[in-house]
Amino acid sequence: MKTAITEMFGIQHPIIQGGMHYVGFAEMAAAVSNAGGLGIITALTQKTPGDLANEIALCKDMTDKPIGVNVTFLPTVNAPDYPAIIKAIIDGGVTVVETAGNNPVAVLPYLKDAGIKVIHKCTAVRHALKAQSIGCDAVSVDGFECGGHPGEDDVPNFILLPRAADELEIPFVSSGGMADGRSLVASLAMGAAGMNMGTRFIATKEAPVHDNVKAAIVAASELDTRLVMRSLRNTERVMTNAAVERLLEKEKTLGDDLKFEDIIEEVAGVYPKIMMHGEMDAGAWSCGMVAGLINDIPTCQELIDRIMAQAEDIIDRMNAMR
Ligand SMILES: Cc1cc2nc3c(=O)[nH]c(=O)nc-3n(C[C@H](O)[C@H](O)[C@H](O)COP(=O)(O)O)c2cc1C
Repeated sequence: MKTAITEMFGIQHPIIQGGMHYVGFAEMAAAVSNAGGLGIITALTQKTPGDLANEIALCKDMTDKPIGVNVTFLPTVNAPDYPAIIKAIIDGGVTVVETAGNNPVAVLPYLKDAGIKVIHKCTAVRHALKAQSIGCDAVSVDGFECGGHPGEDDVPNFILLPRAADELEIPFVSSGGMADGRSLVASLAMGAAGMNMGTRFIATKEAPVHDNVKAAIVAASELDTRLVMRSLRNTERVMTNAAVERLLEKEKTLGDDLKFEDIIEEVAGVYPKIMMHGEMDAGAWSCGMVAGLINDIPTCQELIDRIMAQAEDIIDRMNAMR
C-alpha cells in the first residue's frame, strides 16, 4: 500500500510504532522496521546521549530498513541534554524523528539540515497546525483513546481525525486505539495516510519487556485503563493496578491541592520495575483502551502482515459494494 507516509519515510506499510518509554529499544524498532513498518527507538529511555548512540548503532546492525527516534520534550526540572541527543540521532544516520510533548521548534533546523523527516505527535488540531507552520513534515494525531498522554481536550479519534484532515495540508497518521486492519482502513477513510500504534506493539514476541506486561495487556479489557494526573494538567492514560487506585484515591482526597511530590511513589522511576522486572503493581504505566482489542502475542511480522491482509480484504469488500 502506497500513501504519503510510506513515500515520505521510505517504508513498505503505513504503520508506525510510536516511541514508548522502556519499550522502544533497538529490538523493538528493528522488528517493526524489518516487518515493513517504521520502528522507533525512545531517546529518553537511554541514560545518556552516548547510550542512545549505541542503541541506534545496535538497531542499525539488526535492520537495514529506515528507523526513527522519538524525542519527547518533558516538563522536567533537570532537562535532558537535548542538543547532544539530536547530535547522536544525526550522527547515527537516523532518517525519521518523532517529536512529542512540546513544540520542537528549537531542534527542527538541525534535523532538517541533516535531511531528517520530522513527525510531531499532537493531541489537538491547533497543535497540529502549529507543527505544520513551523515546518514539521507530518503529524501523528493522538486521540483521547491513546495510551500515554492524551492531552486535556478529550477529543476521540472519530472527531479528531476528520478535523485534522479538514485543516492540515501535511500528511498525518492516526494514533490511539489502533490495533488491526479495521483501524487502518478507518484511519484512511478519515483522511490519515497511515496509523501509529503503541500498546498493540507491546504485546508482540519481540517487544523487549517482561512477559507479565504482555499478559496484562492480553488480559485487560477496554475498561481497564484510568486517567491520572489530570489536576496537574499532565493527564496520562494508564493500566489500572493497585498503585493507580492508590494514586486516584490521593487525587480524590487532595483535589486541586495535589502536587507531584504527593504521587512520586506511584509515578517516578517505575518503568524499569514494570517493563524489565514485571512488577505489575509497582506504579502507573501507560496503556491504551485498545488493550480490549488485543488477544494474542504475535511476532511483529505476523501482526503487520495480518493488518495489511485484513485492510486489503476490507477495501475489496467495500469496492464490491459499489
Ligand atoms: C508504555 C507506553 C509508553 C509510552 N511512552 C511514550 C514516550 O516516552 N513518548 C511518547 O511520545 N509517547 C509515548 N507513548 C505513546 C505512544 O507513542 C503512542 O502515541 C500511543 O501509545 C498510541 O496509543 P495506543 O497505545 O492506543 O496505540 C507511550 C505509550 C505506551 C503504551
